[in-house]
Amino acid sequence: MDAIRTEALTKHFTVGFWRPRPYLALEALTLQIGHGEVFGFLGPNGAGKTTTLKLLMQLIYPTSGHAEILGRPVGDVEVKRRIGYLPENPYFYDYLTAEELLEYFSALFGHSAAERRRRASALLDEVGIGAERRLQLRKFSKGMLQRVGIAQALINDPEVVFFDEPMSGLDPLGRRHIRELILRLRDRGCTVFFSSHVLSDAEALCSRVAILANGRLVSQGALSEILAVTIRGWELVVSGLTETALAHAQSSAGIRGATRLGPERYALELPMTVPPEHLLAKLVAAGATLVSLNPLHDTLEDFFVRQVAAAPEERGLESTRG
Ligand SMILES: Nc1ncnc2c1ncn2[C@@H]1O[C@H](COP(=O)(O)OP(=O)(O)OP(=O)(O)O)[C@@H](O)[C@H]1O
Ligand SMILES: [Mg+2]
Repeated sequence: MDAIRTEALTKHFTVGFWRPRPYLALEALTLQIGHGEVFGFLGPNGAGKTTTLKLLMQLIYPTSGHAEILGRPVGDVEVKRRIGYLPENPYFYDYLTAEELLEYFSALFGHSAAERRRRASALLDEVGIGAERRLQLRKFSKGMLQRVGIAQALINDPEVVFFDEPMSGLDPLGRRHIRELILRLRDRGCTVFFSSHVLSDAEALCSRVAILANGRLVSQGALSEILAVTIRGWELVVSGLTETALAHAQSSAGIRGATRLGPERYALELPMTVPPEHLLAKLVAAGATLVSLNPLHDTLEDFFVRQVAAAPEERGLESTRG
């Protein structure tokens, strides 16, 4: 049984006042996410990430398709007790303090007074809210509210958490806090599903990702697989290389690019198809020393930009509906 499963999940909105027409926010999304996975749901603005999370939370209903959490259809009351959710723009009652808010949510789960205090205090520690926890939320900054939102999502010790842009509004230290928190959740066996367009967060955290563009899934899989298939070539960094020796090597060895890093120090790029040994032997013979030799991988960013650019843009449905 998967922790989260969607099958051909589809959401069309109706847009336009004079001439209402369907607009494709999410088209036939099929995903399976295992227990204990940290799953990154990536895509540019308007891709359909929030729509998907709202469908999973039953804040909106699908046009067609199906979704399950912990083996039960979304909306199952038993399952709701075992999940947590951070909305994209969390909004809380302004006149409660952070502490009061968390104790309030804890009470909704039927925890005793002592248990409520314990949970609220432990979670506020965990998201890095200090003495400010006794301030009313209307005095909180955006990043502090985001942290409270994350703490709120964890109040019931959920088995599966859904974070919509958990890093939004956080400063670098805050991002690190939340990254570490997500890894601790994973270590406890919690499944984490989070949306983001910040790719470095996904690279640091995820076992698998899905990339969404224009409401359609364009790619999914382990980051290592997605990125491994796209080794671009080799980078050799050498020192002690004179300009004449470089010019000589460039004329014969298939070097694609040379970047000067310092006096007689260069980074040379070779395509995948040219084994670096030959060039290296030549350079060493010309008196150069090897500093480093690395395969050039596509970053998630390169991959993302390519996939998103290639995604079909058509989102109106007039052509299929007449
Ligand atoms: N209630 C609605 N009515 C009409 N269109 C909507 C509605 N909600 C969302 N959309 C459209 O659906 C598309 C997907 O929106 P969604 O909020 O899911 O994007 P997202 O991937 O979360 O983007 P972001 O990164 O900006 O948060 C957008 O083009 C949006 O305009
Ligand atoms: Mg969104």
